[in-house]
Amino acid sequence: MEAAIREIVKALTLEEKAALTAGADAWHTVGVERLAVPAVAMNDGPHGLRKTLDGVSLSLAAHPATCFPTSSAMGSSWDTGLIEQIGQAIAGECLAGDVQILLGPGVNIKRTPLCGRNFEYYSEDPVLAGELGAAFVRGVQSRGVGTSLKHFACNNQEFERMTMSSELDERTMREIYLTAFERVVKKAAPMTVMASYNKVGGTTVTEHAGLLRHILKEEWGFEGLVVSDWGAVTDRPAAIAAGLDLEMPSPGPEASSLVVRAVKEGRLSEADLDEAVGRILRVAFNTYAARRPATTVDPDAHHALARRAAAECVVLLKNEGALLPLRPEALRSVAVIGQFAKNPKYQGGGSSLVNSTRVDVAYDELARLLDGKVDLRYADGYPSEDRVEEALLQEAAAVAAQADVAVLFVGLPESYESEGWDRHHLNLPPAHIRLIEAVCRVQPRTVVVLANGSAVAMPWVDGPEAILEGWLSGQAAGGAVADVLLGVVNPSGKLQESFPMRLEDTPAFLNYPGEEGRVRYGEGIFVGYRHYEKVKVKPLFPFGHGISYTDFAYSDLRLSKPEVTDQEKLEVAVTVKNTGDCAGKEVVQLYVRDVEARVARPVKELKAFAKVSLEPGEAREVHLTLEGRDFAYYSTERQAWCVESGEFEILVGSSSEAILQTATVMVRSTQPEPAFTAQTLLKRFQKSPVAMQVLMQAFGSTPAVIFFTDPVLAGLVQDLPVGRLVNMSRGLLTEENLQQIISAVNQSTKA
Ligand code: BGC
Repeated sequence: MEAAIREIVKALTLEEKAALTAGADAWHTVGVERLAVPAVAMNDGPHGLRKTLDGVSLSLAAHPATCFPTSSAMGSSWDTGLIEQIGQAIAGECLAGDVQILLGPGVNIKRTPLCGRNFEYYSEDPVLAGELGAAFVRGVQSRGVGTSLKHFACNNQEFERMTMSSELDERTMREIYLTAFERVVKKAAPMTVMASYNKVGGTTVTEHAGLLRHILKEEWGFEGLVVSDWGAVTDRPAAIAAGLDLEMPSPGPEASSLVVRAVKEGRLSEADLDEAVGRILRVAFNTYAARRPATTVDPDAHHALARRAAAECVVLLKNEGALLPLRPEALRSVAVIGQFAKNPKYQGGGSSLVNSTRVDVAYDELARLLDGKVDLRYADGYPSEDRVEEALLQEAAAVAAQADVAVLFVGLPESYESEGWDRHHLNLPPAHIRLIEAVCRVQPRTVVVLANGSAVAMPWVDGPEAILEGWLSGQAAGGAVADVLLGVVNPSGKLQESFPMRLEDTPAFLNYPGEEGRVRYGEGIFVGYRHYEKVKVKPLFPFGHGISYTDFAYSDLRLSKPEVTDQEKLEVAVTVKNTGDCAGKEVVQLYVRDVEARVARPVKELKAFAKVSLEPGEAREVHLTLEGRDFAYYSTERQAWCVESGEFEILVGSSSEAILQTATVMVRSTQPEPAFTAQTLLKRFQKSPVAMQVLMQAFGSTPAVIFFTDPVLAGLVQDLPVGRLVNMSRGLLTEENLQQIISAVNQSTKA
């Protein structure tokens, strides 16, 4: 294949090569008939296929496809196996629709809950987002269909997304915003990566050589092609030089002449153009060879998978007095309230909008499962427009008051959450809040079922006895919620993002949305739970939270070794037992805490997790593995991941707040310490007995010794770079002496 690609690149004219680096239309690459180069189709993505009806234009009208749970929901399943299966199913729909590349998954970090596109992203945590993204890519690509990992990089808001520059330090970028992409690239090799609309540090991402060429391609070894987000390119020659391979959608054939001219004028090297073309050909040939247009899809089977998946994503946030699951035998009537019960909100707006094959309606599904055994009553509760209607509130309260239990369906309507804009606040619409208050006043046994793609504030949280976070869970969400409400499925979802009390508590509050084209990520690495834990602000519901109809007990946390180097693996085992009386699934979460660090570190960070299914009374040993990188921070000074020797705590629990088992491991770094230089501060000498010995030899017999022996004076000079002593010691120390001291220190500290 590689030899064939080289031959084709040689045989292509400059004009043909230039043409290949942009789309043929909105969704296809360019083919070259004389050399049998196929044109391939790429379509959205990520939680279902959106193949436009005409196949070539940007229209939103699409062929029917299964709308699986959106990423906000899938993220809450914490279930890599399930996500892989969904990926396989979507790939089947791609094969049947003759689509070679699916535009997803999105692994951007949820920096602020306001981001209108959070429903397309997995988590506020890079390890969770990376693991789930890798599972999705594995699933789709196992059937030969390509994926597009998006939106690379630091595209964490919709506000002014095409011009905004994300301003962040390298440590924050590496630890928080690039880690999920890195994990997916290294673990699952997506065939394409999509370069985002925004700028990073003032440079348009599609022209950002640091990100595209150096980090993605050279450092991480990405071998696929880099495609632009749709319309993200302003200067294709500059973009190709920076490592972009393909501009989408087609800017028209004339635009390719700019690439030809840039090569002829020496502004773009032909080698860079050839590299882009080679990458495009590789993906085109690979995905074209995997075409299976005769594939058939069973929409019922896919709907069933969508329903099973959606039920895995539901997060039971609270359940006072074990109100849930509802027990039909103990109920005469249930009031189902809220338009979303009959007119479901199950996906978000924008390019990911799937034309669903069918839609489960929660009210109908409840009625079907209850099979006439319980009297179901219904009230709209709020109008379809965003306004409060007193008559609907009164009617709802009356219906609720007369029933044994009320189930309220509320959430964020279309106008609140979409690609293209962000939310302005964290609240539900006023009509939904008023409804919750009105119903809870007359009916304490109330369940609130939420449909939203990212965290909402809940000033009403104490009203209902139970709250189910249903997310935007795809076309089968209604059925899945009915299954959970009635205990057909025991909920096992866990929050993939923290739910704050108030917008003012959120990490990006002071810096979002930016101004004059720049958004400063001033909170640094302290995003999501890393922020709430560090500033000791209690969130409404913490990251990783989610309860079950059964209980789990944790015991016997064991580490394979008490001490490891950063080159070794550490195996962690813990026993989890289902101590309740129904089967259930638990997500075991492992966090790591650096006990003492030379840089600011989060209180703890998620590094591994596993979802286990347990029958009542069953216990299972869960095994998780850690490696050097799980203890590391990114050192901006050294431009590398660094592990600091010392103690680390291994914290295992059922949420970021509920840590149930703890152990300590001693980690030894094998990385050499940076050499001493003239810039090294005296305090580093002071901490090292061997370095101090060298200094004492040099100064021991001079009056300057007092600066090393007197604690107050030693404190005074601790932040002095050693090289400054040359000018400050009035001839006691020459440049030559300094170099001798430094090399002696380096010699002795090495030994
Ligand atoms: C979105 C991408 C999407 C593309 C194609 C863009 O506006 O940001 O996520 O894949 O359109 O529809």
